[in-house]
Amino acid sequence: MFKKDVYIERRRKLKEKLKSGLVLFLGNKEAAFNYPDNTYHFRQDSSFLYFFGLDLPNLAGIIDLDSGKEYLFGNDFSIDDIIWMGPQPSTKELANDIGVENTEPLDQLKNYLLNAKAQDRNIHVLPFYRGDSIIQFSNLLEINHSEVEDFVSIELIKAVVDLRSIKDQYEIEELIKASAIGYKMHTTAMKMAKPGIYEQEIAGTVEGIALAHGSMLSFPIILSQNGETLHNHDHSNMLQEGRLMLTDTGAETNMHYASDNTRTVPVGGKFSQKQKDVYNIVLKALDHSITLIKPGIAYRDIHLESAKILAEGLTNLGIMKGNPEDAVREGAHAMFMPHGLGHMMGLDVHDMENLGEDYVGYDDEIKRATQFGLRGLRLGRKLQEGFVLTTEPGIYFIPDLVKKWKTEKINADFINFDKVLDEYATFGGIRLEDDILVTETGYQMLGKRIPITVEEIEETMRS
Ligand code: GLY
Ligand code: MN
Repeated sequence: MFKKDVYIERRRKLKEKLKSGLVLFLGNKEAAFNYPDNTYHFRQDSSFLYFFGLDLPNLAGIIDLDSGKEYLFGNDFSIDDIIWMGPQPSTKELANDIGVENTEPLDQLKNYLLNAKAQDRNIHVLPFYRGDSIIQFSNLLEINHSEVEDFVSIELIKAVVDLRSIKDQYEIEELIKASAIGYKMHTTAMKMAKPGIYEQEIAGTVEGIALAHGSMLSFPIILSQNGETLHNHDHSNMLQEGRLMLTDTGAETNMHYASDNTRTVPVGGKFSQKQKDVYNIVLKALDHSITLIKPGIAYRDIHLESAKILAEGLTNLGIMKGNPEDAVREGAHAMFMPHGLGHMMGLDVHDMENLGEDYVGYDDEIKRATQFGLRGLRLGRKLQEGFVLTTEPGIYFIPDLVKKWKTEKINADFINFDKVLDEYATFGGIRLEDDILVTETGYQMLGKRIPITVEEIEETMRS
């Protein structure tokens, strides 16, 4: 946990941004996977962690905007609990750790909220993303679960997004720690990528590194020689000589700050010329995009700059044709990169995605596009000092998508479909991803950069 002043200050800033009523943060509960006592690894809600810091289940925090009072609702542990769980802090002690003055048993939360409801007070909540939280909130307020959404407060969402988007020095230190774990995970994966090994063996080893140095993975590992499938969680293949292995993975620190990096390496350790040609286009797009990062620039513009480099590179290889700028305007490059350049990162790997992507990544000035590819961009708005984001261009050869575009003659002026289908059908995909802090004048890479040039990767794989 951070020092208690950090949480006091965060809640003070939140109060300053909101007018009246009360704010409820429901902490997460344990979630069962096959029977009630066999639970998933506990993961606290990130906004609860941000404002109330306590990494334990069955808690709720209330901030009364009118009186300024703050409450922690929780149950003290019984001796029966302590037998199984060991000594536990009391709710009072927990509250003291985060500078909250008032504590109440959890079963008082219902009375408290029903009172507020009877007085027609505003009850601000963030969107819920777990079924049990929706049920809990509907029980607390004595409403149908279909009415829960009516309580979601846009005012609260915007205030939380404003605060959580700007990372302070303590958060940056945590994010750098997460990156250091990611470094170990990725270099280990590279060294293991030999023909004959199963993807599962590498994925399991990499996950173990996350667990050994932090609290968990920041998202289920993506590791496959079929890297053209963007979120490939199938690790059943045996690696084959001549293929590429794409690994997209990151860790959460013990404080739950995330890292998220992607590297793509040649199985066996040596890139072919054909692989190098495509790889270096993606690397150029990544490097150029990163150099553009600074406060005031719209991330959508960096996405489009990156797209231009991809289109130019693919045109030079004869895979695309025509004018690359026109191709990007028409969205033709998106057949090769159907996703966005990156997203915010912090306590969530896609930071605050549960609050609504458009509140996090867009604003009144920059709205989400509807064009295929560009519409998948999670962060489009102007960057500010203190944002932490990922930059992750890629080139993928997705045979089903190529066949569909060929049949429907989509962007046929810009793509040599037959060349793609004849020569790249089993190429796979390449993605490269780094984590970046926006500084006052530009950018800072979080932690030491994971080997990325052709030479660095081949050297790491040899060692
Ligand atoms: N690294 C996984 C993602 O950003 O979706
Ligand atoms: Mn990512």
